[in-house]
Amino acid sequence: MNPKFVARLWSLSILIDLSLAALTSLTLQGPASLPVDASPPLHPSLASFSIETAFFISYTGNLSSPNLLTKNLFENLKNRTGVPAEVRIGGITADSTYWDASLDTPLFNFIDDQGALQNTTIGPQFWDVVREILPEGTKITVNLDLQDLNFTGALEVATSAVEGLAPGQLVAFEIGNEPDHYLSFTPENYTEIWRPWSVNISEALNITKPMFQLGATAEDPLWPYNTPAANAQLDCVSALAAGANDNNTVRYCSEHTYQYSVCDPARAQVATLTNLVNHTRVAQYLDLWQPRINAVREQLGDDAFVIGEYNSVSCSGRNNVSNTFGQALWLLDTTFYAASINVSRLYIHQGGPLALQSSTQLNHGGFSFYDLWWPVDNLNGPTQVFPSYSSYLFVTETLGTSTNLRISNIFPGRQENGSSITTALGDDSAGQLVVYGFWDESLPSGTDFPSKLALLNLQAFNATNGTGERPSVNFDISNYLPSPDTIVTVRRLQAPGADVKAANVTRWAGQTFEEGVPSGELVQETIDNGLVEVEASGAALVIL
Ligand SMILES: *[C@@H]1O[C@H](CO)[C@@H](O)[C@H](O)[C@H]1NC(C)=O
Ligand SMILES: *[C@@H]1O[C@H](CO)[C@@H](O)[C@H](O)[C@H]1NC(C)=O
Ligand SMILES: *[C@@H]1O[C@H](CO)[C@@H](O)[C@H](O)[C@H]1NC(C)=O
Ligand SMILES: *[C@@H]1O[C@H](CO)[C@@H](O)[C@H](O)[C@H]1NC(C)=O
Ligand SMILES: *[C@@H]1O[C@H](CO)[C@@H](O)[C@H](O)[C@H]1NC(C)=O
Ligand SMILES: *[C@@H]1O[C@H](CO)[C@@H](O)[C@H](O)[C@H]1NC(C)=O
Ligand SMILES: *[C@@H]1O[C@H](CO)[C@@H](O)[C@H](O)[C@H]1NC(C)=O
Ligand SMILES: *[C@@H]1O[C@H](CO)[C@@H](O)[C@H](O)[C@H]1NC(C)=O
Ligand SMILES: *[C@@H]1O[C@H](CO)[C@@H](O)[C@H](O)[C@H]1NC(C)=O
Ligand SMILES: *[C@@H]1O[C@H](CO)[C@@H](O)[C@H](O)[C@H]1NC(C)=O
Ligand SMILES: *[C@@H]1O[C@H](CO)[C@@H](O)[C@H](O)[C@H]1NC(C)=O
Ligand SMILES: *[C@@H]1O[C@H](CO)[C@@H](O)[C@H](O)[C@H]1NC(C)=O
Repeated sequence: MNPKFVARLWSLSILIDLSLAALTSLTLQGPASLPVDASPPLHPSLASFSIETAFFISYTGNLSSPNLLTKNLFENLKNRTGVPAEVRIGGITADSTYWDASLDTPLFNFIDDQGALQNTTIGPQFWDVVREILPEGTKITVNLDLQDLNFTGALEVATSAVEGLAPGQLVAFEIGNEPDHYLSFTPENYTEIWRPWSVNISEALNITKPMFQLGATAEDPLWPYNTPAANAQLDCVSALAAGANDNNTVRYCSEHTYQYSVCDPARAQVATLTNLVNHTRVAQYLDLWQPRINAVREQLGDDAFVIGEYNSVSCSGRNNVSNTFGQALWLLDTTFYAASINVSRLYIHQGGPLALQSSTQLNHGGFSFYDLWWPVDNLNGPTQVFPSYSSYLFVTETLGTSTNLRISNIFPGRQENGSSITTALGDDSAGQLVVYGFWDESLPSGTDFPSKLALLNLQAFNATNGTGERPSVNFDISNYLPSPDTIVTVRRLQAPGADVKAANVTRWAGQTFEEGVPSGELVQETIDNGLVEVEASGAALVIL
């Protein structure tokens, strides 16, 4: 994301009412049956990754020296669903990435005297790494360079990917990263270039099915959405309207979401932990995309809309905000809420600050403060895993190996018009309590009862709160159980507070993952009275 971004709805903000008395209990009303607004079956790779092209090898290592931390962290996710997280290789550096068949190392970053990354070159060993180091079966999306308007260069990278990846490994090409930030593209003149490129690349590589992911745009949708200004934005829907899919080359559409930013001081002011960990704000933000999601799915199918790059705070995150356990709660809520409004997959962005990205940004060098882990020692600190990684364990374990799991946000839920229920509309928890239900039609409980519930208590509790007692909420889930004394299993996402930054005190089902592999005994509880207590700044997965 870059700074010439227009003010978003939030900047009009809204004073936070600190006098709100926190709830201590919440009775879920039911009914227990599959809600009408439930999603189609969730994609097993709902929780996926986008890795900045220039930083890719820093994450994976190379064949003679693979990064074992990265390998293990990916394998843990695959082990829970049976299907690896997908990886999109892209970001701002993809628009200055070139192919060199004679390069004797996987990747070379050209860094100038000022320390600015000018461009990136990849060679044959790059694809060997992608093929061999990520878990077997990892699907890859490759972001090609559009900004140079050099078709030959884009085709060379595309050809190298087709030749270098395992058969079936490539799921899509993107042409350009955040093209709404350069060359003053309109939907029409973007499409005039994008469409023939997608056709010519398909023909050159004997690709006979739709293989392209449209969009990869950065700007948030203007609201209201059906105005001339909103329709003039470059995005998936306007590009489709301009004929991007006239030659049947579009498989998916991607748009990027960054709810907060430190690209400039004005936006840095609102990029706080308190704002981040608030369901009302998450839902209002993602709701901006609902009209586009609906339009894309109508034209291209149920699984066609993806958030192909996202994180919490653009321009590489913020220390003490996006590297905390609060980010873990934000990530969990964002992933599930997006799934509940029919986003098929979300690719959390990993990498580092780029000197040329914004002259007013807070971060310079090292790795990003929003990464789920740092694969190597860097300017910002040593190799480490962050609390937010454990949220992807929560998500993948919720999905399990089911291919029939459907989600609905059952508290605070959504209005009939699809937008979220907010404090003003009756969410007494002020965006602090969130519940998602999951129904699995392949199980005997079918559409009558959920097979799982995710309970989130986003109320702020800081580990640095001295001796203050930790509040908690009792969720009464009896209305979702076949009988009030049904025995359920509970696994928890826990940390000493929303402000902690260490993986060695962040527990998923009792285990920590600071070394990439589980440490400690697995902990789960059984409950037989329909009451599940969840501490402030905590979450629980209930398995029926
Ligand atoms: C996860 O790993 C365990 C232990 O190796 C194995 O038994 C199980 O089948 C794996 N699960 C999946 C879904 O791959
Ligand atoms: C592989 O990575 C190691 C460790 O970073 C490095 O020393 C080595 O030069 C790399 N090999 C290649 C071919 O890039
Ligand atoms: C990368 O940038 C440097 C410095 O501007 C330039 O000399 C070099 O030719 C560029 N590399 C490629 C492959 O364009
Ligand atoms: C376009 O890309 C090709 C292949 O990388 C390169 O040989 C050529 O010089 C580029 N053209 C321009 C105008 O930069
Ligand atoms: C697209 O059209 C706009 C408006 O006419 C123009 O400013 C811009 O330069 C064009 N971009 C390209 C790449 O042609
Ligand atoms: C794409 O192919 C068409 C037909 O062969 C050709 O006219 C056009 O110049 C090509 N476009 C590019 C960017 O290569
Ligand atoms: C595409 O098919 C043609 C004709 O069958 C073949 O000559 C060519 O090598 C193929 N290209 C690729 C990239 O597979
Ligand atoms: C692409 O679609 C356009 C518009 O329908 C059509 O004129 C053109 O012939 C198609 N190109 C190819 C290569 O099929
Ligand atoms: C969460 O955000 C909403 C919308 O900005 C606000 O009304 C509400 O008070 C916030 N909740 C808390 C606990 O600050
Ligand atoms: C601090 O502790 C008090 C007393 O238990 C609690 O009400 C409050 O929510 C806590 N605040 C934070 C941010 O941890
Ligand atoms: C909790 O910690 C965060 C990060 O250190 C801080 O921004 C926030 O103000 C703290 N909240 C309270 C109520 O102390
Ligand atoms: C967690 O790691 C930090 C930093 O390495 C260390 O200071 C702390 O003692 C560790 N805590 C536990 C509970 O292992």
